[in-house]
Formats: sequence, structure tokens, C-alpha cells
Amino acid sequence: MMPKLVITDLSKRFPLAGSGGNGGEWLEVLRGVSLQVGQGEFVTLLGPSGCGKSTLCNIVAGLFPPDRGEVLLDGAPLAASRGRVAYMQQKDLLLPWRRVIDNAILGLEVQGAPRAEARAEARDLLRRFGLERFELAYPSLLSGGMRQRVALVRTLLCRKDLLVLDEPFGALDAMTRAAIQGYLRRLQEEFGRTILFITHDVEDAVLLSDRVYVMTARPGRVRAEIPIPLPRPRQSTDGGVVREKAGLLALLHDEMAEAFR
Ligand SMILES: Nc1ncnc2c1ncn2[C@@H]1O[C@H](COP(=O)(O)OP(=O)(O)OP(=O)(O)O)[C@@H](O)[C@H]1O
Ligand SMILES: [Mg+2]
Repeated sequence: MMPKLVITDLSKRFPLAGSGGNGGEWLEVLRGVSLQVGQGEFVTLLGPSGCGKSTLCNIVAGLFPPDRGEVLLDGAPLAASRGRVAYMQQKDLLLPWRRVIDNAILGLEVQGAPRAEARAEARDLLRRFGLERFELAYPSLLSGGMRQRVALVRTLLCRKDLLVLDEPFGALDAMTRAAIQGYLRRLQEEFGRTILFITHDVEDAVLLSDRVYVMTARPGRVRAEIPIPLPRPRQSTDGGVVREKAGLLALLHDEMAEAFR
């Protein structure tokens, strides 16, 4: 079967702030990254801070092009597939002038869904994520974790088959995190959604993923591709989970040591 997402030899650099770019200094962020996500697969990108994970997501979502390399979605170049990726950015980017419910339906609205229908769908998911009493609140009144959940609801509601989630659990407490992990797993298992998940948490990676790509420190490259062939549901205390976590941590530690040398 053709993979959903195929990234080949992706490279990206940015002009270093203050150097003006042209003739100035550049920051090499991604160097020759290749990876694939199969239809219905849950793939995690794990890597140290600053290695280019969000940059890769931005490219996959079509926000800007790579300097080199190719991104294919269902076999077609990314340019043709813009708007086909549901993307939750690391910064939650809620619109401050819209209530929670109307932030949640933004993606559906853009896709042309009738507002009443969209709201009903959003209400259901907001309730599952523990936000039922905050539908009419404005984002500025919410905690960081609540804002993150609203952004996640907004992304999940988009009827798109590739979900790119950039550290969606960063601000969540352990209980909420576990509940939402369970929800994501069901999305994948029951609805066959394809998920590219970004984290620097090895436990998230092992509990959720079919495969994990471990990235190097900047410039980000793929250091290792680790399949996680453990049965589900998975608990953090399972022997297999503990073993895989230790393996991923060892890889990450090497990278951190490299980065801060
Ligand atoms: N638009 C941009 N212009 C200039 N530099 C950028 C831009 N976007 C990202 N960078 C730089 O690229 C590097 C990688 O950033 P990125 O956000 O992709 O890392 P990350 O792996 O997502 O890190 P974290 O885990 O902390 O979220 C950083 O040094 C950042 O300063
Ligand atoms: Mg990031």
C-alpha cells in the first residue's frame, strides 16, 4: 500500500537573526530528513529541543517550502495537497475574540460546515476533553492546558486524514494526558486516522506509537527508526514499555550530550 506521507531528503535553513541571511550567517535546521507514515499509522518524531521538529511540521502543513527535498501526500506533491493536513501547532493560536466553542469549530467552518452542525460536533468533543463548562468562555480566561485542549479539539474536528500534532500534551497534567492519549488511540484504531505526533517525551512515544523516529540535535537528521511492536492497550509499567523507553532515552541522551558539548 502506498504510504500516506513520504518525506524525502528534506533540508531547511533560516537566516540567523541579525545576520541578514544573504552573505550573512545561516542556521541549518533540517538536513536530509527522510521518513514515511503509512495509512492509519501512528508515527512519532522524538528529538531534542531545537532540532527542527516544528519546522518539519510547518513544512508538512504547507506553511513554507523546504530548501531541498520532497513531501508527498498520497503520492502527490505537497503543493497540490495544501489544506489536506489537520495541523495543531505547538503554540495554540486561539483567536482571542472568539469563544471556546467558536475557536473549536474554526477548521470545520473553513471547510464549509454549517455552524449549528459544527457546534454540536464540537460540544461533544469539548465535553469529552473536560471543557463542557467553558464553551462560552474566551481563551484569555483559560489555563494553558485548557487552551491546549481547545486547540486539539479544533484540529481533531477537521475532517482531514493526516493529523499533525506538535507537542499536544505539553501543558497537560498526567490524568488529562492519559485520557487524551486514550482518545487518540481510539481515533487511530476505530477511525483509521493517520497521525504524525511530535514530542520529546519518551513515555508518550512508547505508549502511543507504531514507530518512532529519533532525531539528532540540530541540524535535525533521522538518527534511528524504532518500531514499537507492543500489544495495546499499553501501560507505563508494562515490561515492554519500560524496555522501549530505556532504549529511546539512551538514544536521546547521546543526542543531548552532543548538543551541549
Ligand atoms: N521562521 C524561522 N526563522 C528563523 N529561525 C527559525 C524559524 N523557525 C524556526 N527557527 C529556528 O530553527 C530551529 C528549530 O526550531 P523548531 O521550532 O523547529 O525546533 P523544535 O525541534 O520544534 O524545538 P522544541 O522541541 O523546542 O519545540 C530553532 O533554532 C529556531 O530558532
Ligand atoms: Mg517545536
